[in-house]
Amino acid sequence: MPGEGISVALIGTGFMGRAHSHAYRSVASMFPECPRPRLKLICGRDRERAEALAARFGWEEVSTSWEEAVGRAGVDLVDVSVPGALHAPVSIAAARAGKHVLCEKPLANSLEEARAMLAAVREAGVLHMVQFNYRRVPAVALARQMLDEGQLGTLYHYRARYFQEWGVYPQVRAPWKLDREQAGSGALGDLGSHMIDLCRYLAGEIREVTGMTETFVKERPGSAGVPPAGPAAKADAGGTPALPGAVIKVTVDDAALFLARLENGALASFETTRLAAGRKNHNFFEINGSRGSLYFDLERLNELNFYSLDDPPGRRGFRNLLATSPQHPYAASWWPDGHLLGWEHSHTHAIRDFLMAIGQGQLPRPNFEDGVKCQAVLDAVARSVASRRWEAVE
Ligand SMILES: NC(=O)c1ccc[n+]([C@@H]2O[C@H](COP(=O)([O-])OP(=O)(O)OC[C@H]3O[C@@H](n4cnc5c(N)ncnc54)[C@H](O)[C@@H]3O)[C@@H](O)[C@H]2O)c1
Repeated sequence: MPGEGISVALIGTGFMGRAHSHAYRSVASMFPECPRPRLKLICGRDRERAEALAARFGWEEVSTSWEEAVGRAGVDLVDVSVPGALHAPVSIAAARAGKHVLCEKPLANSLEEARAMLAAVREAGVLHMVQFNYRRVPAVALARQMLDEGQLGTLYHYRARYFQEWGVYPQVRAPWKLDREQAGSGALGDLGSHMIDLCRYLAGEIREVTGMTETFVKERPGSAGVPPAGPAAKADAGGTPALPGAVIKVTVDDAALFLARLENGALASFETTRLAAGRKNHNFFEINGSRGSLYFDLERLNELNFYSLDDPPGRRGFRNLLATSPQHPYAASWWPDGHLLGWEHSHTHAIRDFLMAIGQGQLPRPNFEDGVKCQAVLDAVARSVASRRWEAVE
């Protein structure tokens, strides 16, 4: 493996297929300390699309069968960038074939599946990570450093919002995200899993929750490139054109809200929706403690806002830290101070950390155990929606 690099099989040629391809392309040139990934194989159901991506990003080979791809000799790492329903089968098969596994979020469509995935990687003795890439935004990693230093004191509140707008448009890019069988849930698992992971990373474990969800838009038009929901869509995940006039029945939530109590006693609130016109990718958190506060918004991802009660009275106010200095996490490997980074860098950083972990033979975070813990919170929220009561996180 050393010298040759770490051979990667990327399963998925959609949005994340491109984002991860970009990360594998750039990681070794910007982080020379990192083992070099070898872009061995890209897999998608549509050969033409996979070949186009292979040509654009430099993947050596193409496969149209994930079963074949994960078992391929000479592959060290399988990257699972396909719809949620495939996370468990692909990850488990990859682990059993002795490959390290990077899986997109949320880890699975259910807690049961997530646990089976954790058991499989443990049994196989392979390394594993979940692509909760927002931990790797420099400003977010800086927030974590400042919390570790105790700069906020005792935590009282964690407040999270993750709003997107694409649901206000009738036709959607990835119709599988509207189908419970393929996605597990809607905004709750898709965006809520990121909020939960950041809360666990920054503020602590979630003990109990009470939540509500809503599906406002129950049917959507299906047209060329947008397959109908149900069995047909399942067969064609991310794929082939639908019948003209087809209707997509939405079987997941558009929006979810929940309250939580953390293990450390802090109170937390979470709100997510796909129907927030004007909010393109508003992933926001605010943390209030006995010594100060921090807040962050992904749409301003180079910035971390910090208020300190240690400042003298009359001089207190939120200060805006631009997390691009060489002292900031990941920043020294890029550009001079003030030359901003983007969303894609969070994927490059996550993949850098996983490749480093493989090189060192150490389990990275967030790994499948973190994925299971996140899934347990999603599961508790879903139970609370059904029971209309507070539910403990298992
Ligand atoms: N971390 C992030 O920032 C982020 C952002 C978006 C999506 N995601 C996650 O990434 C994953 C993929 O989402 P996406 O937005 O890329 O979806 P997408 O619809 O853009 O792409 C899905 C891909 O999976 C492929 N696929 C489906 N069934 C397949 C099969 N049987 N064999 C091989 N390939 C198959 C499709 O052809 C398509 O290329 C999901 O788990 C999603 O939650 C993560």
